[in-house]
Amino acid sequence: MGNMASKKFLIETYGCQMNEAESASLVSILKSYGWEETREADKADAVILNTCSVRETAENRIWGRLGFYKHEKSKRNFKLTVMGCMAQRIQEKLMKKVPEIDLVVGNFEKHKIALYLDEVLEKNLRFSATKTADYSFFNNHYSGSFKTFIPIMHGCNNFCSYCIVPYVRGREVSRDPQLIIEEIRNLTELGVVEITLLGQNVNSYRFETNGKYVDFPRILELVAENTPENTWIRFLTSHPKDLSKRVMELIEKEDKICRHIHLPVQHGSNRILKSMNRGYTREDYLNLVERIREKISDISITTDILIGYPGEEDEDLELTLKLMESANFDDAFIYRYNPREGTPAFKLADPIPYEKKIERMNRVFELQKRLSRKNREKRLGRNAKVLAEQVSKKNRGEILGRTEWNEMVVFEGNDDMIGRFVEVKLESLSGNTYRGRIV
Ligand code: SAM
Ligand code: SF4
Ligand code: F3S
Repeated sequence: MGNMASKKFLIETYGCQMNEAESASLVSILKSYGWEETREADKADAVILNTCSVRETAENRIWGRLGFYKHEKSKRNFKLTVMGCMAQRIQEKLMKKVPEIDLVVGNFEKHKIALYLDEVLEKNLRFSATKTADYSFFNNHYSGSFKTFIPIMHGCNNFCSYCIVPYVRGREVSRDPQLIIEEIRNLTELGVVEITLLGQNVNSYRFETNGKYVDFPRILELVAENTPENTWIRFLTSHPKDLSKRVMELIEKEDKICRHIHLPVQHGSNRILKSMNRGYTREDYLNLVERIREKISDISITTDILIGYPGEEDEDLELTLKLMESANFDDAFIYRYNPREGTPAFKLADPIPYEKKIERMNRVFELQKRLSRKNREKRLGRNAKVLAEQVSKKNRGEILGRTEWNEMVVFEGNDDMIGRFVEVKLESLSGNTYRGRIV
């Protein structure tokens, strides 16, 4: 193992944007403790897996990575850490099944990881730190990129019947608005031009001090007030039960806030929505979409759809397809239900056969492809502000960018455009990606 000054770590991040944000924080913390980041597994003194438990497939990937590192450990010596939601969910099983794991760190002790790693290295200890306590937000989520995820909340109080998140992330807590604003000011000085405010359910943000409180519309407004002109502000995720009129008005009036709302519906059948404990009906949802479209011109609405939930019949699928057409989604993430132990839906088993789920998902995919295409076609011929994100891997003379509606655009350009806004004429479509030309 290297000397103290040159110890190297490698971090692999799985799961949602919250994990990405926290990994970015950990990278800077570890660096401040004298660690150096590496992307080469065979050079790392410490390998850290930041994990996700939301679906079995997510956990299976981690078991696969653990298998790989187990084998690596038979060849050379390094420390193996598992952190995040899977660490929180099954700490004991991990320690027992994989003796090669040195350290398990849950969601409430992540900020201490540098200290724990030192102990593991110096004293050659093996332990897990997964107690649940008050969540401490990190102060710095800068990843070196021009776009940054900023957690403003942690945890979830909704307990959708299928979902593990409330059990591994705990109850909702909101972050001090002053610290959020301070961080965002620093980031924009470092050249960050896109900020995504993060939480499982950002609309229930609420921070109280001295009898006064800051709610989600207010923090959104504060962020807009405290960022320079050319900044994009996004937020994830909105729960349909509490997206307020004030948020809609703010999006309509404030240019910096992207005209995009990710509003997971999960399903189109009231019977299923009820069993899922989502807290709204299909009618509520469609009303909300109508109000959003009335209040905000040119808004893009995207969603999550969960197929194959216990008890889903063919009629329920039809209702979902109908709702998708009515809501006219710009995009959708489509998931196949899988049971998570410890959630209420686990007791309902998993009665829908795999093939049936796939067949239903394909119908949802096909419909969404059509809707996405139709909605994008409407924008052809227009000029759009685009954030240039990366050089195309297929063609070095082409740049991939994104519109405020969260759609991909490819256009001719060069790499000094990366991280900057350009005006692009949307000329044609290939799949769901626009082809355009800088104007
Ligand atoms: N808080 C967000 C919300 O309420 O929409 C979503 C958070 S979750 C990390 C992202 C998506 O994973 C959910 O919208 C849901 O569709 C999906 N998901 C959650 N539990 C699942 C399960 N047991 N099987 C398959 N997909 C699941
Ligand atoms: Fe999971 Fe529901 Fe909370 Fe989203 S709102 S994280 S789906 S429990
Ligand atoms: Fe996965 Fe945890 Fe996020 S379970 S989706 S990493 S909150």
